[in-house]
Amino acid sequence: MAKDLSYACSECGAGYRKWSGQCDGCGAWNTIHETKALSSGPKGKTLGAVRGQAIALTDLETQEREPPRTEAGVGELDRVLGGGLVKASALLVGGDPGIGKSTLLLQAAARFARNGLKVIYISGEESNAQVQMRARRLGLEKSPVLLAAETNLRDILTTLEAEKPDLAIIDSIQTMWADTVESAPGSVSQVRASAHELTTFAKRNGMAVIMVGHVTKEGAIAGPRVVEHMVDTVLYFEGERGHQFRILRSVKNRFGPADEIGVFEMTGKGLAEVKNPSALFLSERGTPAPGSVVFAGIEGSRPMLCEIQALVAPSPHSQPRRSVVGWDGGRLAMILAVLESRCGIQFTGLDVYLNVAGGLRITEPAADLAVAAALVSAREDAALPAEAVVFGEISLSGALRPVVQAENRLKEAQKLGFTKGIVPEQAKQPVVTGLHQQSAKTLAGFVENVFGA
Ligand code: TYD
Ligand code: MG
Repeated sequence: MAKDLSYACSECGAGYRKWSGQCDGCGAWNTIHETKALSSGPKGKTLGAVRGQAIALTDLETQEREPPRTEAGVGELDRVLGGGLVKASALLVGGDPGIGKSTLLLQAAARFARNGLKVIYISGEESNAQVQMRARRLGLEKSPVLLAAETNLRDILTTLEAEKPDLAIIDSIQTMWADTVESAPGSVSQVRASAHELTTFAKRNGMAVIMVGHVTKEGAIAGPRVVEHMVDTVLYFEGERGHQFRILRSVKNRFGPADEIGVFEMTGKGLAEVKNPSALFLSERGTPAPGSVVFAGIEGSRPMLCEIQALVAPSPHSQPRRSVVGWDGGRLAMILAVLESRCGIQFTGLDVYLNVAGGLRITEPAADLAVAAALVSAREDAALPAEAVVFGEISLSGALRPVVQAENRLKEAQKLGFTKGIVPEQAKQPVVTGLHQQSAKTLAGFVENVFGA
């Protein structure tokens, strides 16, 4: 029997049978509220339905290998979508307020419209006049995009039914409300109901829908996680305030690779694509200084070089600071521990700051060795050779592990004028002409080779 979960946490979406003060799922207080079921069928009757009958896989006649797609003609966007927008798919684009989601989607709307799709942009946050003003600023005021300023789901679905667009953009899902659900717009049940209705409508009518979702302080898309499960594709639009770079990252994609990124630059006239991000991320780099290391990373299907910076200074505090931007704090602690116990390099009494330049966020363990190199370089006040890139995973034993796509990383480095790769030793070292490789088996060996310690 299905459990009757009529209470849900507004932070994480966990369902409960009864009210309680604290959510077991995420630990938040006072976030559990009563929810209303979306709809219920006839009581006591579970058999006798006619839909959803089984069909043999081989009997299906829609034998297209690839789902039908429309390209936006913006390489950075199309790559993140896995090669274009898929017909009848549902997407969620999450990001901090003010990061540029509305700008990105209005530009995308105009591109798709120009490529033959009938596009409607529905804003629940701005009036039609405001959207038009933005379009003018972006030089898109002549685009054949339909606009609507509406938040009532019933009205929206009626409009969609009448207009039959190929693509509907909903900005944002938190402003939408269904009059069948009692709670306020933005609440878990409203977000869930709106997302569900829109997704179902899209699938049934062969329409693609892109929903914008605001992100909470903790970095999750506000409202229940279940929205992420409802859609085919989840994209995050991220970037650091004060930096002009913006990264569109696919965290889930039923129609393409996840973890693919597109790089954009926010200009006075909207978002411009950045075709050579490695050059961009390294462009602000001056003469090599202690604590600065170039990491040869892979983002999605593409190699990308970026600078990792570390600063190590005597701490005035009894508990020294460990501050990280663009990388995982737990991973930093691990690398410091390995440096201390396997290489005898102490960081006690020292503040440690680590930063990935350009507002990029790295999640690859392949960055371990570059981080360790930056830390040792900062601590020893000794710069790495300017022509070197670094990558490699570090294990708790202090051994260096080979990483995926070593050859692509080295080729990208060579393309940008680097002549040296400092890498883990592996059985079959990739060969890249014009690039000298210095390899080590352990972190201690690496420190000895590079810093002569
Ligand atoms: P917006 O798309 O409204 O963000 P979101 O929908 O994610 O909340 O973008 C807001 C910021 O972008 C705002 O601070 C101004 C800036 N911006 C530009 O720098 N150039 C532009 O051409 C536009 C339209 C906005
Ligand atoms: Mg907006």
